[in-house]
Amino acid sequence: MNLIAPSLLSANFLNLEADIEMVNQSEADWFHCDVMDGRFVPNISFGIPVIQAIKKKAQKPLDVHLMIVEPDKYFEAFAKAGADIITFHYEACTHIHRAVQQIKALGLKAGVVLNPHTPVSVLEDILGDLDVVLLMSVNPGFGGQQFIERTYEKIKKLRLMIKEHHASALIEVDGGVNTHNAKTLFEAGADVLVAGNAVFKSENPMKAIKELKFGKQK
Ligand code: DX5
Ligand code: ZN
Repeated sequence: MNLIAPSLLSANFLNLEADIEMVNQSEADWFHCDVMDGRFVPNISFGIPVIQAIKKKAQKPLDVHLMIVEPDKYFEAFAKAGADIITFHYEACTHIHRAVQQIKALGLKAGVVLNPHTPVSVLEDILGDLDVVLLMSVNPGFGGQQFIERTYEKIKKLRLMIKEHHASALIEVDGGVNTHNAKTLFEAGADVLVAGNAVFKSENPMKAIKELKFGKQK
């Protein structure tokens, strides 16, 4: 699957509506919403009221990436705000299995996020329960960082694990994705690519989305 999820972290917060409309019109598949608490990551972004506002205009699923401690305390609030997919960090949660079931009980898709240092093998016993595995290809907290090359290896390993377990989780990759590495990431086995700067700092965001999804047109 070749899905694109533009990250609104890099959008124009003075006119979010225009950027949401652009994504609606584009060939993107999900809206990626980065929630940061200043504790799990060294940055604070936006939270529930902003997600609520985004939901009013977004015509595609909201993929809410929680970079917060104790994420399970907030699943219900983010579900009510309009999240369709909730992903939370392995490193921020003790009872992953319970948390996944909580998200699913709210009627949402559930995913676990792994920081660059966390091996995919930690998910072996829970893979069958997951709708999404999000691999961080930068250290979470900021947009516009450089892609960590080691991620290709992790994608390939995870792809194999999913096959071996007859699981159906989508592999999502987040951080430093651009029109140069997108094709290789899909070939390595990624299903969903998150892109912040590569979309919103581009001169032609709709074209950038198209190129991320289908490769550069000659
Ligand atoms: C980083 C966030 C990303 C970020 C990606 O912590 O999880 O979603 O917005 O931005 P780019 O694509 O610019 O690296
Ligand atoms: Zn993200």
